Amino acid sequence: MKKFSIAIDGPAGAGKSTIAKIIAQRLKIEYIDTGAMYRAITLKAIRNGIDIGNIDKIVELLDKTDINFTNGRVYLDGEDVSDEIRLPEIGNLVSQVAAIKEVREKLVTLQRDIAKNKSVIMDGRDIGTNVLKDADIKIFLVASVEERAKRRYKELLEKGIDVSYDDIVKEIEKRDYIDSTREVNPLRKAEDAIIVNNTDKTLNEVIDEILSIVYKKLRCNV
Ligand code: DC
Repeated sequence: MKKFSIAIDGPAGAGKSTIAKIIAQRLKIEYIDTGAMYRAITLKAIRNGIDIGNIDKIVELLDKTDINFTNGRVYLDGEDVSDEIRLPEIGNLVSQVAAIKEVREKLVTLQRDIAKNKSVIMDGRDIGTNVLKDADIKIFLVASVEERAKRRYKELLEKGIDVSYDDIVKEIEKRDYIDSTREVNPLRKAEDAIIVNNTDKTLNEVIDEILSIVYKKLRCNV
């Protein structure tokens, strides 16, 4: 079967990564979590004691940073940081790092490189509008703020991370604002993206909805 790409964009906590991971398994293609890359840079900046407002220092750090994916895990300079990048400290600062032009340039180049020779499903904020403008299928996944906060809250509790629900709502609203109003490649639906609403639906319902869009677009049974 010919190489194809699927872009999934949408706000924080809409369920993109859970859904993209399952679709990748079903279609036997690679899943690339671009948010994890922005989180990894943020983690490295924090570990190095760099103030997130210090753009020059973060850009300097970028040149000395290696990020890659192996078996669904994210490696920062060879270290598996998949769990650490989900901590709320990172969630609170990552939007600011993702708004830096130089950071985006470097990570977008890396993302395009990964997708060059294979079929992928990539999730993020600017995949359909920028990273993979020619993606065969573009999905814009949305869900209400309450639904997204409930999910994030449950996820963190299950990992034993103690957080307040109200703080999560605030964090999500703040991130939505920063992600959709930043100057460089803000979160926005690509004109040719199909909106899928993940409020009040089961995981299977949403997966089936997206897979039927994929099959229709590719006009075959993958
Ligand atoms: O999807 P996530 O919550 O892991 O994303 C982390 C942050 O990175 C979020 O603030 C948005 C930003 N991001 C981005 O700007 N562009 C992407 N392609 C992916 C994530």
